Amino acid sequence: MSLIKTSQLLVLAKKHHYAIGAFNVANMEMIMGAVQAAEELHSPIILQIAEGRLFYSPLHLIAPMLVEAAKKSKVQIAINFDHGKTINLMKQALDFGFSSVMVDYSHENLENNIFMTNEVKALADSYNASIEAEIGVVGGSEDDSTSLQVKYSNIDDIKYFLLHANTNALAVAIGNAHGHYAGEPHLNFDLLESISSLSNVPLVLHGGTGISKEDFHRCIQYGIAKINIATSSFDAIYSSIYSKQSNHQNFFEVSQAIVQATKENVMQHIEMFGSAGKSRGQ
Ligand code: 13P
Repeated sequence: MSLIKTSQLLVLAKKHHYAIGAFNVANMEMIMGAVQAAEELHSPIILQIAEGRLFYSPLHLIAPMLVEAAKKSKVQIAINFDHGKTINLMKQALDFGFSSVMVDYSHENLENNIFMTNEVKALADSYNASIEAEIGVVGGSEDDSTSLQVKYSNIDDIKYFLLHANTNALAVAIGNAHGHYAGEPHLNFDLLESISSLSNVPLVLHGGTGISKEDFHRCIQYGIAKINIATSSFDAIYSSIYSKQSNHQNFFEVSQAIVQATKENVMQHIEMFGSAGKSRGQ
């Protein structure tokens, strides 16, 4: 049906109290599995690739597949460039037709983060695309390169940021981390509630793997409208292929297993996020 602007999905999700799953993918089979899941549940989704993963999935190969998959799908799909740090690559993604870019300068000082966010917003506007910015540090690593300590978003920094930066969505650090949590994740819902009361900008939760259904629901209640899921899809594929019970006889059975494992994981998350049945215009 359609490739859709990310911000359009997020505004509706926030208004109607559900979240859009933003699923990181690395190859054609993962794209197929995620699209099948969304179509079966009539759910809008976001597909995304992080800048740090382009070594494995070069942009000039994965981008056309992502954009075509969205255009040909029966549901609304947005394509996001996740954790963009290099302007030239963000521009390339927009040239390929991505619906949004995440500009991640959260590791820099506040003024630089604001400056870069505004630069990328102007760029994305010229493509009729939207952006996501980040403030605070989400722990772990989005591409296995480092392992960062969680740094909670500071409420005064966020006030200042929202006053001076123009963004369509804001990723927050409330105790969430990329990859596997060392123990139970402890999300700071008081902080999330305070952030949410500051503005109407849809909020984004990175590090969705390992968070419980109940915590997802509380996050959505306090304004989270996009939830990123990567590791649990990769884990599902890995265990489907390498578990003792798996008995794949050839390459094509492995290829189908990747599609199926991704599909099941995406479906589970769509159900938890409440976005099933929310794709419009079918
Ligand atoms: P997980 O790998 O923890 O699911 O996080 C994904 C993510 O936030 C990508 O930006």
